Amino acid sequence: MYQTLKKLIKVHGVSGREGAVAGAIAEEILPYVDEVTTDALGNLIALKKGSGEDKKKHMLCAHMDEIGFIVTYIEDNGFLRVSTVGGIRFIPAAYMPVVFESGLRGVIAPEEDLEKKEDYRATKFYIDIGAKDKKDAEKRVRIGDCAVIEPSLVRLAGSRVAARPIDDRLGCAILIDIAKRLDTPKDDVYFVFSVQEEVGCRGAKTAAFAIAPDDALVFDVTGTGDVPGAKPMAIRLGDGAAIKVKDSSVICDVETVERLKTLAKAHKIPHQLEILTYGGTDTSSIQTTGLGAKAGALSIPTRNIHTAMEIVDMHDAEACRDLALAYLTEGE
Ligand code: CO
Ligand code: ZN
Repeated sequence: MYQTLKKLIKVHGVSGREGAVAGAIAEEILPYVDEVTTDALGNLIALKKGSGEDKKKHMLCAHMDEIGFIVTYIEDNGFLRVSTVGGIRFIPAAYMPVVFESGLRGVIAPEEDLEKKEDYRATKFYIDIGAKDKKDAEKRVRIGDCAVIEPSLVRLAGSRVAARPIDDRLGCAILIDIAKRLDTPKDDVYFVFSVQEEVGCRGAKTAAFAIAPDDALVFDVTGTGDVPGAKPMAIRLGDGAAIKVKDSSVICDVETVERLKTLAKAHKIPHQLEILTYGGTDTSSIQTTGLGAKAGALSIPTRNIHTAMEIVDMHDAEACRDLALAYLTEGE
């Protein structure tokens, strides 16, 4: 899983421009599934056909996109003004290296001497690509071009990793690993790599409409309560797969939550229960699309979400994978 994560992290995929990520994932998953398709929005959908009769449809989902910056205006001195794509946190974004789809590098910087926390917002930031002036900048970049914080991956102690973007390339890596390890299932299993989650869980809507799954599991990051100054939250890095009960966009299907808890206990898979009081995931979109689906989520505890150094414990990701495999292979 680590090798897949390493590969996916390097690919540029800001919301709305996930094509390169989809290409890399298709290459990885193709040997393990029956078909791979894309839809109008760019969702990548891989299907592993079930062998049983009266088959159900399970949908697993992780998003391919990441947050970034979009160029809105080029100043006379060659600095680029930007707007956000998704939930950029400007305090940790200050002075970070950024990279455009074209490979062009820059630095996202705040105007000098920002005093108040409230000043850390898009209108007070600019990207410096090193251009001499506006004309020079226009040779390299256009209005609407997108940049992301430079990807990186660092191994920390034990099974812990600091990287960008963990959210949600690690979820994508988990899905690929499930496809690799899942022998011919009884039911149809759809692996959905969704687009535009970071701007409002948009891709998962059309994918869920097309598939009309009976039930779904979403794999995405969640916060932790184990760092200095953290809001109280019963999630700790390294304590296992986080079975989502609720976040601000969804109340997970009760039966799914109970089933995941039972399976985790039976298989001795480390797990914890997650209530996230901020933020949402594709789970809400899938639950409420078409006639609806029984939706749950297995979250990866992550420190420093939406910063250049998102920290996870790979054992937690493995626990998510193992629990999903148990969920898919054991009858209700
Ligand atoms: Co996110
Ligand atoms: Zn995410």
